[in-house]
Amino acid sequence: MLFSENELQSEIWKSISHELHRGALDPKHPFRYVNLGTIGKTSPEIRTVVVRSVSKELEFHIFTDSRSEKVNELSANPSATLHFYHSGKRVQIRIKTKTEIHHQDEVSTANWLKVQGEAQKAYTSTLAPSTPISDPNQGFDWPKNSDDRYFTVLKFIPETVEALQLNGLKHLRILFSKSENWKGQWLVP
Ligand SMILES: Cc1cc2nc3c(=O)[nH]c(=O)nc-3n(C[C@H](O)[C@H](O)[C@H](O)COP(=O)(O)O)c2cc1C
Repeated sequence: MLFSENELQSEIWKSISHELHRGALDPKHPFRYVNLGTIGKTSPEIRTVVVRSVSKELEFHIFTDSRSEKVNELSANPSATLHFYHSGKRVQIRIKTKTEIHHQDEVSTANWLKVQGEAQKAYTSTLAPSTPISDPNQGFDWPKNSDDRYFTVLKFIPETVEALQLNGLKHLRILFSKSENWKGQWLVP
C-alpha cells in the first residue's frame, strides 16, 4: 500500500509525490512509464510514454517528435491526463494537466543534450511518425547528420491529482486540487 486512511492528508500527498518522483529516477519503477491521454479529433487518444523528469512542482516532462499526433492534439487542446498504475502497491494515480510544448526553444535545446547517440533516432526519422508506408524498412531511415529540428519536450502542469488505493473491500480514493492549494478531498471509491 502507498497510503492508508489513518494518515494525514498532507502525508498522503507527500507519499504520492515522492513515488512519482522515484518513477523518473529509477528505470525499473512502474511510474517510469505513463499512459498519456489527449483529446483527439474524433475520439480520446492514449499512448505510453517515458517520464524523463519530474519537477518539485510535480510537472512532468516527456520527449517526443514535433510531427507526432500527440503534439498536433495538444496544440489544438492543451488538456491532457496522465495515468499511472503501481501493481506492487496497488495504487492508481490520475493527473489532469495543462500542457506546454517546447520545440526549438531553451527547454528543448537543454534537454537535447541529454539525448545521446542512437537514442536521437527516436526523434529524427526521415518520414514523419504516422506516415503510411508500404514496407516497414521505410520507417528505419534517418539522415546522416541528425539534429534537434523535431525534438520536442512536453511539459505537463498538474491541476488535479487523484489516487485510488486498492485495499480489499475498503478502497481509498482521494483528490488533490491545485485550486484548493493541494488540500485533499476523500471521495467514494
Ligand atoms: C514502453 C513505451 C515507451 C514509449 N515512450 C515514448 C516516449 O517517451 N515518447 C514518444 O513520443 N513515444 C513513446 N512511445 C511510443 C508511443 O506510445 C506512441 O506509439 C508514439 O509516440 C506515437 O503516438 P502518437 O501517434 O499518439 O503521437 C513509447 C511506447 C512504449 C510502448
